[in-house]
Order: sequence, then C-alpha cells, then structure tokens
Amino acid sequence: MSSKKITLCKTSDVPEKKPICLNIDVYYFAVYRSGDGFIIIKDECPHQMASFEGCESKDGIIVCGFHGWSFDLKSGDAIKGFGTLKKYSYTIENEFIVIDYTEDPSQSDYSAAFVR
Ligand code: FES
Repeated sequence: MSSKKITLCKTSDVPEKKPICLNIDVYYFAVYRSGDGFIIIKDECPHQMASFEGCESKDGIIVCGFHGWSFDLKSGDAIKGFGTLKKYSYTIENEFIVIDYTEDPSQSDYSAAFVR
C-alpha cells in the first residue's frame, strides 16, 4: 500500500453544518466541522455509494439524502442501515486540511462517481 498527502481545502472553506464535498483526482471526500476540528470521510454512502453533498450534520449524525441511512460521524458506524464510513485523519498545514491517504485496494475510489 502506498501513502500520499492530499491537500483538501482551507479550514475556512468548510461550512458550519453541511460538508464541503471534494473531488480530487479520482478521490471523493466530504469534510464536516466537528467541535473545534473536522471529520473527513470518503464521500460515499455505504449503501449505494451516494454523495453526502448537502447532508447536514445534526448532533454528530448525518442522514444520507438518498434512502435515509444514518451514520455517527465520530465513530463512522451506521445508526440506520449497515456499514461504516471510511474516515481519514488529518493535519492542518498553513490553514489547509491535509490528509495522509493510504490506497486501499479493497475499496474502489471510482465507485462514488456512479451516484452523483
Ligand atoms: S445511498 Fe445512502 S442510503 Fe442509499
């Protein structure tokens, strides 16, 4: 597995409750605010790979706009439905959010493009 740093966006780009959804190369990310920090997930619902674009976070829970599955942002676990959100750790570098992305051959980074 190879790892690389990916710069996502400026911290100030992330809205209060909704995510900023980003397509960088072939990767899709959703960045949410959480307390003083951020939660970064793969922008792909575990159900049918829909984007979380526009899906508000309420009390740390997001609900997919397609079929209503819900997820705890902190743990990534499904509350309604099944599966776990893919999460990424990050650092802040000169006001930019940067993740250490590790390729995972078991997960397709192209799949999210189907439900957008
Ligand atoms: S694609 Fe998200 S609940 Fe169906």
